[in-house]
Amino acid sequence: MPSFPRPIASKLPNVGTTIFTVMSRLAQEHNAINLSQGFPDFDCAKELRDLVTKYINAGVNQYPPMAGIMRLRERIAEKAESLYAAKYDPEHEVTVVPGATYGIFTAIAALVRPGDEVVMFEPTYDSYIPSVEVNGGVPVCVQLRYPDYSIDWQEVQRAITPKTRAILINTPNNPTASVFSGEDMRMLEGILRGTGIVVISDEVYEHLVYDGHQHQSVTRYPGLAERSFAVSSFGKTYHVTGWKMGYVLAPKELMAEFRKVHQYNVFVTNGPLQYALAEFMENPDAYLSLAGFYQRKRDFFLGGVKGSRFKPLPSRGTFFQNLAYDAISDEKDTDLAIRLTKEKGIAAIPVSVFYRQPPAHRVLRFCFAKSEETLARGAEILCKI
Ligand SMILES: Cc1ncc(COP(=O)(O)O)c(C=O)c1O
Repeated sequence: MPSFPRPIASKLPNVGTTIFTVMSRLAQEHNAINLSQGFPDFDCAKELRDLVTKYINAGVNQYPPMAGIMRLRERIAEKAESLYAAKYDPEHEVTVVPGATYGIFTAIAALVRPGDEVVMFEPTYDSYIPSVEVNGGVPVCVQLRYPDYSIDWQEVQRAITPKTRAILINTPNNPTASVFSGEDMRMLEGILRGTGIVVISDEVYEHLVYDGHQHQSVTRYPGLAERSFAVSSFGKTYHVTGWKMGYVLAPKELMAEFRKVHQYNVFVTNGPLQYALAEFMENPDAYLSLAGFYQRKRDFFLGGVKGSRFKPLPSRGTFFQNLAYDAISDEKDTDLAIRLTKEKGIAAIPVSVFYRQPPAHRVLRFCFAKSEETLARGAEILCKI
């Protein structure tokens, strides 16, 4: 095997193997119930799989248009209008991308110059900090308030400086399962009014909001929509995380900059999948019924762990349920997560990994996008701990 003959001055010296890879590998080695990584253990709709086959056989296998096929961009624009009363021009303001992570990265790459600051909330989804840093930007983290993971808007105001280029938000939020309220959106709108700060809004869990809460998309709020990239993922919505398909909405001026990077980064997104998704989206039932589907799973899991010593924190959105373990152990969450996988046969994600300097909270994140049988087996183990 060849090896590079000189030391490499890494652009991301702090990045190693992610905890998701570590926990999934451990879960496999120990044959544990894997409630760690966030993906469904059930398949997508057969109709959607059949549509992919149909379009591959129809021969749409060459490069599609750079911004995505028009049929899909139109469906996306219609959806944003029907759900959020937001108007986006499919020609200039909608781009289909290979996953939300890519969409967020590309928005950052298009905007952030060396030394620019990007405000974000901690705990923070794992791709945000490296995406900012590899582009020369400086992440500025505001901590969500434990245990409800609410936002201190005065602190956000204090975090904003003349160097702030963008603010990254994520509602519903991974890993905290909290959601922004309308009041949060109005606070954000007020803070940003009159500035040139751009919002990058990660809305991959837009359809996974429970208990009568409403998803607060930036696209609903004109004062935010005018300065925002709204990023969504087909992976979460249609149980196809492995497809890495998503889309971005933004005003024309921002989208023009986005597409300059997109054009030379990936150029186009998988064609046959776009045709299949465009046809599948004609029927909104799949995403309209998603909140009910996942809320039942959340409640099933919660019912299962009711008799345990774990304390559930509110899960208002996403497919994650956080459980605090103060009554069980004072171990670090990373140590406990590893021990539970090895000794008890259940894998979860320690929430501290989503912080740069973790506070001493004792919380594990469990993914309930799993079959009832898996959730029941997982809950049974948790009740014995
Ligand atoms: C908050 C958040 N953003 C983005 C993603 C990734 O989306 P995609 O697979 O479409 O890149 C995830 C997946 O777990 C996520 O939780």
